[in-house]
Amino acid sequence: MAEQAPGVRIDGLTVVYKTPAGELPAVRDVTLTLEPGTITGIVGESGSGKSTLALSLLNAVQPPGRIAAGSVEIDGLGDVTGFAGEELRKARGRHIGYVFQAAQNSLNPLKTVGKQLLDLGRSHGVEDLRGLVREAKELLGRMGLDGARVLDSHQHELSGGMRQRVGIMLALVLNAHLVVLDEPTTALDMITQANILKIVREVHAERGLTTLVITHDIGVVAEVADRLVVMYGGRLVEQGPTREVLGSPTHPYTKGLIRAIPRLVGDIAEAQALPGRPPTLATVPKEGCVFRERCALRMDVCDTVDPQAVAHGSRVVACHAVTVKEHA
Ligand SMILES: Nc1ncnc2c1ncn2[C@@H]1O[C@H](COP(=O)(O)OP(=O)(O)OP(=O)(O)O)[C@@H](O)[C@H]1O
Ligand SMILES: [Mg+2]
Repeated sequence: MAEQAPGVRIDGLTVVYKTPAGELPAVRDVTLTLEPGTITGIVGESGSGKSTLALSLLNAVQPPGRIAAGSVEIDGLGDVTGFAGEELRKARGRHIGYVFQAAQNSLNPLKTVGKQLLDLGRSHGVEDLRGLVREAKELLGRMGLDGARVLDSHQHELSGGMRQRVGIMLALVLNAHLVVLDEPTTALDMITQANILKIVREVHAERGLTTLVITHDIGVVAEVADRLVVMYGGRLVEQGPTREVLGSPTHPYTKGLIRAIPRLVGDIAEAQALPGRPPTLATVPKEGCVFRERCALRMDVCDTVDPQAVAHGSRVVACHAVTVKEHA
């Protein structure tokens, strides 16, 4: 088992879903490295492929979806896209802690949280179940909950925000060193959200984790992530150190996203909504740049040639206009 923060190398990953119009990519040719010990945030509008990409880290894409190309190498585990059955079950939980999107709905309604915790421990061969319960209470306590009470509760006795924190506890309690949180704070009010993000950061640092946080809320990544990855239409359009990307966004889509957020712009009157709508699987262009329909910098080449991800210093950007400007 990898006892230290594992690195993750996603290479050329394409994930497709079967639709009436055939198999269409929700994630297309994505190459991304999660450096050991870092928190990476993935942002993008609804449908951009964030959850599909995250599920691939667990080889958990369900039919009608499948990984059509590429690999996901996790230190200490290998390429998980080839994993199945028991091998996969063991990797989840012990090596990879995971909070699914809408985790507040994923608890078993018939069992108390404590019973589900013990089931989880037993299924992963945890011998010290008392220690596991102690750890769970401690994590819940840190997140502002009465641990003993929560463990005695059924799902219907907990609020959406409480369930979400239970989901985070279950992802952390087995001490996995790779943690994936998909929309971990959507059901929380702003103050609880800030508190939870602080705890995610603390636990990340204390345990030496590699953490991936997925959110449509760029304010969330601004608070927790060391590195920021921006997705659009199944493609990675920009990535780099969070502060740099937020401070001087390069890709026209990143610029638009940031301009749309009053919290980041600092003034509600200055915030401008990004015109148009994000594409669906059926409408995302099959060739050329996926963002061109909404882009102010569109050129002829954008209609026919998919821009490749190009490194500009510490930033990686996939945009013809940016590449042309850099080389002008
Ligand atoms: N089971 C499925 N069958 C068909 N299409 C799917 C399926 N699951 C997801 N998709 C499509 O794949 C694309 C990516 O979906 P995904 O859930 O990964 O997006 P997301 O970025 O996580 O969105 P959100 O912010 O709403 O959670 C979307 O166009 C979605 O409609
Ligand atoms: Mg999602």
